Amino acid sequence: MMGVSGQANVSAVGVGLLGLGVVGSAVAKALLSRDESKERKIPLALVSAVVRDPNKLRSIDLGQSIVTDDPQAVIDNNSVSIVVELMGGENPAFDYISSSLKAGKHVVTANKEVMCKRGNELLRIAADNNVELKYEASVGGGIPIIGPLTNDLVANRIQSIRAIINGTTNFILTKMAYEGADFDDVLAEAQSFGYAEADPTADVDGFDAMYKLSVLARLAYHTEMPVEGIHREGIRDIHSKDFRYASELGFTIKLLAAAQASDDSGLLARVHPALIPLEVPMASVNGVLNAVEVEGDLVGSLWFQGPGAGAEPTASAVVGDILKISESSGINSYDSATFAPFNIIPMNDHVCQYYMRLTASDQPGVLANVARVLGDAGISISAVLQKDTDIEKTQADLVIMTHPAREANMQTAVSLIRKLETVIQLDNLIRVENYAGRL
Ligand code: NAP
Ligand code: HSE
Repeated sequence: MMGVSGQANVSAVGVGLLGLGVVGSAVAKALLSRDESKERKIPLALVSAVVRDPNKLRSIDLGQSIVTDDPQAVIDNNSVSIVVELMGGENPAFDYISSSLKAGKHVVTANKEVMCKRGNELLRIAADNNVELKYEASVGGGIPIIGPLTNDLVANRIQSIRAIINGTTNFILTKMAYEGADFDDVLAEAQSFGYAEADPTADVDGFDAMYKLSVLARLAYHTEMPVEGIHREGIRDIHSKDFRYASELGFTIKLLAAAQASDDSGLLARVHPALIPLEVPMASVNGVLNAVEVEGDLVGSLWFQGPGAGAEPTASAVVGDILKISESSGINSYDSATFAPFNIIPMNDHVCQYYMRLTASDQPGVLANVARVLGDAGISISAVLQKDTDIEKTQADLVIMTHPAREANMQTAVSLIRKLETVIQLDNLIRVENYAGRL
């Protein structure tokens, strides 16, 4: 039912995009690909996408009937039920969002600047017009943090928020720390990955993190946190040698955004580079990753981490908001009892490396026997250790690490290894979890 059409079909929820840049294109692709895979049953129709320059070459070709430079094609279009604002900046985003809400449309936005500066006003307009305004993607990219602060953590008094919430500067600082890279080169790289704001000074000078901190503080402390009340410093004065010296002292350097409530109900909010002890988790949040640590009086310390910028992670949050609105507002519903057609894969087909510890007779040929059994099962050995030979030299611990193997093959080998005369006991077989490409 998801279609690219000038008119939403009768039962589909019409979606209008304001912006078809890094995030907007990824959202459009996600909407179309979700339809192809039929994972969700909510029918959505991408009705219109508003841009500044309709003739620009884009990573997605939606056709001339969809792409336009006329915002009214979305705001005034009766076929559009959900407006998705992905242009950025305070204006004209504020005008377009507020007009859409007043026109009875739900709105999803990834725009932290408008949610920081005009969020209260917009949320009130949404409530007055009985429509929803969702903004999960505005802080932390793909990390769900607005939802938990809005819903799941409301029972808590939030004592502190400490966060890395700008992907671009974290990417830059990480490259400087580990590669001694040049600031301007890494900034250009972050821009090429689509992490940076249209004007990257928003990232580098801490404005983006400040807007995001203000949005988080409003939710956590139920108060307006104006940007004038937030101390802000960027990362321009950080040099490679600062990382060397900090490291000698046991620290790394991160652009930290923090809000802490004090006993007398004061609130201190700040964005600035900070030395972080190397042994705390925040020190290992590298590259485009973001992390938000929330301290609540009931729940204690919670840790949210994930990709804080980039097209697809941000689309994850935006499309999630679109689907939530379509479900909760009743403009369409999907059958949650309709399960995806997955085959259940048996454990026998699992493939991983194995760690095997044997107690074996300490005599010639023992390892060869074990290796032969593994080889016959198509399993190759990646490392062998012989440990703890006993005083009489009659037995030893043999530790074998294999290359990736199929579970069924390993279980066949294990039953044969147990029968070998030279193997006194197979003490342990532990699967190695595969994190390849994720470390
Ligand atoms: P972008 O690549 O610069 O795209 C902006 C889009 O909006 C473009 O398609 C542009 O049209 C259109 N646009 C801008 N001003 C317009 C105007 N006045 N009228 C009509 N169209 C206009 O920006 P982005 O990176 O996708 O970011 C979009 C929003 O998501 C921002 O609020 C940003 O802070 C937020 N966000 C971004 C990321 C990220 O990783 N990039 C992550 C989380 C949140 P043209 O294409 O014709 O220029
Ligand atoms: N420019 C932002 C960042 C995009 O680098 O974190 C995500 O909001």
